[in-house]
Order: sequence, then C-alpha cells, then structure tokens
Amino acid sequence: MRAVQFFEYGDASMLKIVDVDTPAPTAGQVLVRVSATSVNPVDIAVRRGEMRMLSGHRFPQGLGIDIAGVVAEVGANVTAFVPGDRVWGVKAGLFTRASGAAAEFMVIDARLLSSIPANIDLIDSAALPAVGVTAVTAVGDKARVVATSRVLIRGAAGGVGSAAVQYAHSLGAHVTALASERNMRFVLDLGADVALNRATTPVVDLGDFDAIIDTVGSELLQLRRHLSPNGRMVTIAVGSLGSIAAVAFSAIYGPRRIRAFFGQPPRGVLAQLTEIVQAEGIMPVIEEIYPLERIADAHRAAEAGGGRGKRVIRIGV
Ligand SMILES: NC(=O)c1ccc[n+]([C@@H]2O[C@H](COP(=O)([O-])OP(=O)(O)OC[C@H]3O[C@@H](n4cnc5c(N)ncnc54)[C@H](OP(=O)(O)O)[C@@H]3O)[C@@H](O)[C@H]2O)c1
Repeated sequence: MRAVQFFEYGDASMLKIVDVDTPAPTAGQVLVRVSATSVNPVDIAVRRGEMRMLSGHRFPQGLGIDIAGVVAEVGANVTAFVPGDRVWGVKAGLFTRASGAAAEFMVIDARLLSSIPANIDLIDSAALPAVGVTAVTAVGDKARVVATSRVLIRGAAGGVGSAAVQYAHSLGAHVTALASERNMRFVLDLGADVALNRATTPVVDLGDFDAIIDTVGSELLQLRRHLSPNGRMVTIAVGSLGSIAAVAFSAIYGPRRIRAFFGQPPRGVLAQLTEIVQAEGIMPVIEEIYPLERIADAHRAAEAGGGRGKRVIRIGV
C-alpha cells in the first residue's frame, strides 16, 4: 500500500509517498481502507521535529491522526463493525514509526472508531474527528456552555475554532468570534452573533464573557480578565512555555482558573460528536481537498495560515 512517511525532520518536502506492507488487524483492531485524512497542527509540529523529545530519532515515521474510511477487515473480538461500514476516528498517540492515517490502509483499535453520520460525505468527514472532539470537549465539558452563555471564541475561523463556533451556536449561546478580517463574514455564517477583527481589537477592548475558548495560546492572563465572576476559560494551545506558565499561574492566583487539555479525548466524545453532526450542530468546514500526492502542498498551506477550517487529504474513495 502507499503511505506517507518522512525520514528526517524538516520542511514539507520531507514527506515521501512510499510502498509499505499493508498491516493486518490483531484482536480488538480494525483494518480501515482510508478514504481521507486531514492536516492538523500536530502533524506539522511532529514533521518539523518540534516534538522530538517525544517522537525520538528513529525513522521512518508516519503521520495523520484524523481517519475517515471504510472497514476492510476486523480482528478477533470486534463486534461493533463489519466490513463495509463507514467509520471515523482519531488515532491514539501522536507518533508512529510505521504509517499514520496518511496511508491507504490503517489498523486502529476498534474503540477509537465510530460510525460516520449518514448526512456527511465520506471524504469531507475527515475534516472533523480531531477538531470536532476537541471543540465538543472544550465548549461542552470544560467551559460548560449553555443557552444563556456569552462565549468568546479565539481563532474562530481555524479547525477547532470553526467547530467550536458552530457547536456553541447550536447550544443557543451568544457567540463572539475573534478572527482575521477576511474571515468576518465567514464566522458570522458559521453562527457567530458578533465577529471581531483580531488585528484591530486589542484584548483590553473585549467585553465580558461567561466562557472563553482560546485556540491560540497567547495573552491568556489578559483574556482571563474578561471572564464574568463564575466564568470558565479553556485553552487548547498549550505548546509554549508562556501558555503553560499562564495555565499554572491561573491555578494558584485569582479566582478564574484557565483550563487546558491535550491528547486523546475521553472515550465517548467521538460518539457524542457523531450525534451532534447528525443533528447538524457541527458540519465539516473545508478550505481545500488535496490528493495524496499533494500532501506537502497541504502542509505548506496550513503552515502559511489564514485558511478557513481544514485541509483534507483525499486518499481513496
Ligand atoms: N488540546 C488539544 O487536544 C488540541 C486539539 C487540537 C488542536 N490543538 C491545538 O490548538 C491550536 C489550534 O488548532 P487548529 O487545528 O484550530 O489550528 P488552525 O486550523 O491552524 O487554526 C488556528 C487559528 O488561530 C488563528 N490565529 C493564529 N494566530 C493568531 C493570533 N495571534 N491571534 C488570534 N488568532 C490567531 C488563525 O487565524 P488566521 O491565521 O486566519 O489569522 C487560525 O484561525 C493548535 O495549537 C493545535 O496544536 C490542541
């Protein structure tokens, strides 16, 4: 099968399409014929070697955490799926010596998969698993947004932000979206009530909110000042020392703790996402669909920023 791997850390030109053996599912696993994956910031960070303390120095490595495809074979003890089922999921762990979801086939623990809702296209669905479960966790579980909440979403046009705007809107909340000027109309169309240009709206000029969802990771302590007394703030961008320090500081000083989370979503959130999509509470937002052969271009475009939602990589049908 064809798979994307890299043999040293570096820019997008490091990504190679190679021929490798098709993996076989063991007990509890599913072999998925991958239809599509998408580019997430973590794929780019891993490829650049920014997480080498964790990803190590053994190559080749694969990449791709979002998986959407069709069950090709199930291992022993798998009863939830049969060949032909449309499934999606988020790969466990961020690093892989073999191939990730950017490959024609992938084996994955059956517990990490759920059925793709019938109301979305198989290829388009690859835009949602990782950002969708992140948005549902941030907006619902961590920030506890309800219909009466006034919510600020920062990075509102991005992958997680565009899902968070839709989800908070579907819950009935009043949503203020912070995004680039070119994306003002776009975030309003997603369901935001107010769109603010991030270049011309300093944090001090923001109003007060019951919930703040940050996807950027800077100015966290300044943002925290805009929380109402019982407000809840969540950041999902905890890659820098500054953001880690702000989260730690907020846990010790002041009444409003900044919540952060990272890594594998709790079991059940993917199934929850499936239900939310069935109700059209969140739909895929796609900047562009690239064929597998152009995965390096998709990475370059994502690194350049400024897009709306996700870059999807089409692999099969
Ligand atoms: N904790 C978790 O489990 C988890 C899960 C998923 C993602 N993440 C992390 O969350 C972050 C966002 O992920 P994503 O997939 O949504 O990324 P993305 O699609 O690249 O979106 C990021 C958004 O942030 C905006 N932005 C960039 N710099 C900004 C700034 N200085 N001020 C305000 N907005 C700014 C961008 O807007 P423009 O470029 O258009 O201006 C873009 O809309 C990444 O760091 C990612 O690693 C964490």
